Amino acid sequence: MHYLWEKDNAMSTPSNPFILSPHTPVQYFCDREVETAEIIKYLENGSNITLISPRRLGKTGLIYHIFDILEEMGGEYETYYIDIYPSHCFEDMLTLMAEAIYSNTTGRLAARSFLETLKSVRPVVTTDPISGIPQLSFTFQTDTEKRYTLKTLLDYLEGRKKRVIVAIDEFQQIRSYDGLSAEVLLRTYIQPLRNVQFIFSGSKRHVMADMFTGEKSPFYESSAMYPIDKIGQEVYSSFIRKQFCDNGKTITEEAVGYILEWTRRHTFYTQFLCNRVFLGTRKEATLTEVFVAIDTIFKENSDAFLERRNLLTQRQWNYLIAVAKEGELSQPTSNEFLQKYSLGAPSSSLRTLETLVDKELILETKSPSGSTYSVYNVFFSRWLERL
Ligand SMILES: Nc1ncnc2c1ncn2[C@@H]1O[C@H](COP(=O)(O)OP(=O)(O)OP(=O)(O)O)[C@@H](O)[C@H]1O
Ligand SMILES: [Mg+2]
Repeated sequence: MHYLWEKDNAMSTPSNPFILSPHTPVQYFCDREVETAEIIKYLENGSNITLISPRRLGKTGLIYHIFDILEEMGGEYETYYIDIYPSHCFEDMLTLMAEAIYSNTTGRLAARSFLETLKSVRPVVTTDPISGIPQLSFTFQTDTEKRYTLKTLLDYLEGRKKRVIVAIDEFQQIRSYDGLSAEVLLRTYIQPLRNVQFIFSGSKRHVMADMFTGEKSPFYESSAMYPIDKIGQEVYSSFIRKQFCDNGKTITEEAVGYILEWTRRHTFYTQFLCNRVFLGTRKEATLTEVFVAIDTIFKENSDAFLERRNLLTQRQWNYLIAVAKEGELSQPTSNEFLQKYSLGAPSSSLRTLETLVDKELILETKSPSGSTYSVYNVFFSRWLERL
């Protein structure tokens, strides 16, 4: 099947087709066709949408991809991407939002008139000396000024000629702010907007679920929930082979199968290993090239992995190794598991498990048949299982 967005992208050709940054040009982007089509349908229908998935599975990449596709579909939309991960308070979030808008303005006049709308909070523009990206700073003196700024920013978007999509990535971050309730304010000011829709995205499932499905939460039922899953085995497999072929190399079925199994199809890890295998292949990638790439990855990361040991108790470290060796753990309180790895009593080992889930070292995956647990970072998991 051919899609509109399969045509060549104007971006320059990279030497390695396995891109390691979230904004992946369309021809190097794997699948997500159903997700892309469905999310665009939701947006066309006027809904907001909430993307949830574990870390590094592809939420940010999917947002950029959807924006690229919307652009290719004829530019009826204006899109804004705001990553609020670095924000610590409501003011930070406002600044990031203003920067996203400012950097989307075209021409000096538009930029100046945008800043003019914010003059009450005294905007100062500087340029990041390394990235060259413009940065804004404001002087907020009162909470009223902050509320007013939020309203001004949203009014600006509401007044745009095109329909506006704003993606707020790492949205769970707003729960960590002190002071003004960003959640309440955002919801209050977002609700009446007619021209602006939102994609909220986050990886902390508990927090995100509570924000959007908790009856007492301001954002309760204000957005369609859209969990992102792994890319399917078949599709990923043909994508990898195609990327090798299109770029003058080949890869054996066996090698592809091994990569997908070893990385558990967790997108970032799969892309990374493919990137390294491609790099180390002259003509045909076989299991040998895959093993060499894995060794290199371990060498590059072993200091960081060992460092983690210093941050954990012996019990936590042993528990991580046990989960890594299991691969996927479904019965954390079973005698068989506890005895096999000498993990002690069920109650204390459950506490260890909770702490490790909390620290995002272990990933809990929920399904109708119960939870399963795995070491979150797949490379770390594969490294630990060798100990
Ligand atoms: N569909 C895809 N095709 C090719 N590469 C992808 C795809 N999705 C994600 N990636 C790769 O995986 C990496 C991780 O994806 P991304 O940053 O989008 O994950 P995320 O879910 O936003 O993670 P986090 O929660 O940590 O922000 C990207 O940098 C990119 O290299
Ligand atoms: Mg992300």
